[in-house]
Amino acid sequence: MIFTNLITTNLRTRKFGKEIAYYQRLESTNLESWELIGENSASHGMIVITDNQTNGKGRSGNTWFMSPSKGLAMSIILIESIKMVDAQLIPLAAGVAMAKTLQNRGMNPKLKWPNDIIINNKKCGGILCESRVSNNLINAMVVGVGLNVNETENDFPKEVRADASSVFINTGNTIQRELICAIFTTYFERALQDLNSIIKSWNEYCLHLGTEVSFSYKQAKYTGIFKGLSDEGHAILDINGKIETFASIDIYTP
Ligand code: BTN
Repeated sequence: MIFTNLITTNLRTRKFGKEIAYYQRLESTNLESWELIGENSASHGMIVITDNQTNGKGRSGNTWFMSPSKGLAMSIILIESIKMVDAQLIPLAAGVAMAKTLQNRGMNPKLKWPNDIIINNKKCGGILCESRVSNNLINAMVVGVGLNVNETENDFPKEVRADASSVFINTGNTIQRELICAIFTTYFERALQDLNSIIKSWNEYCLHLGTEVSFSYKQAKYTGIFKGLSDEGHAILDINGKIETFASIDIYTP
């Protein structure tokens, strides 16, 4: 059960989260957000949240596992025109907002490019942003956020157990998911008002800045030194002394 009034009392926002659509069970909060947008039932900054997401979508066509009543699965709907240059920074802004949220609760989170949420070298969460484009402008975006909150190791399916972690596993304390949702939404709204500083903030949380990473790009594998982010939010790598910029890669180490 998610108590939406607990989200509301902990929000410190101007607009975001003033409307909350809560569902006990949902295939995917991103999918539901698009349905609400399609029915003209969505408002800018609306939170869509569920206690039990049964078919969550992850990046690169993966699925996202959520443990019912323990994990956080939410989306924030953006319905206003967004310039392409800004749109590329929004997923990074969401990652930074979640990192700040966890730091606010006493953790030491890191970000793995583009926006995996890492604590103690294990993935605790991720961001999936989807957008609708017309006339070279983005007129709607759904920012989906998944975070493992109160899970123990046994709550994760065997296939992901070795790589996944949760806030509880890291801190030994359970935490209200509503509080995480409210703090995240507050930081995210602020981050969108100051997208110019996102690259700097992102670099501060980067797990692998200046270190060697292995990554795949168009089905080939590479190794290079991660140099940081370009102004567009793309990954800059030094591969054998040659600087290259990538809009989309999958980093598998560290
Ligand atoms: C990733 O693969 O790292 C991104 C995972 C994003 C999962 C979240 S859970 C809430 C929202 N709804 C979805 O279907 N996916 C995102």
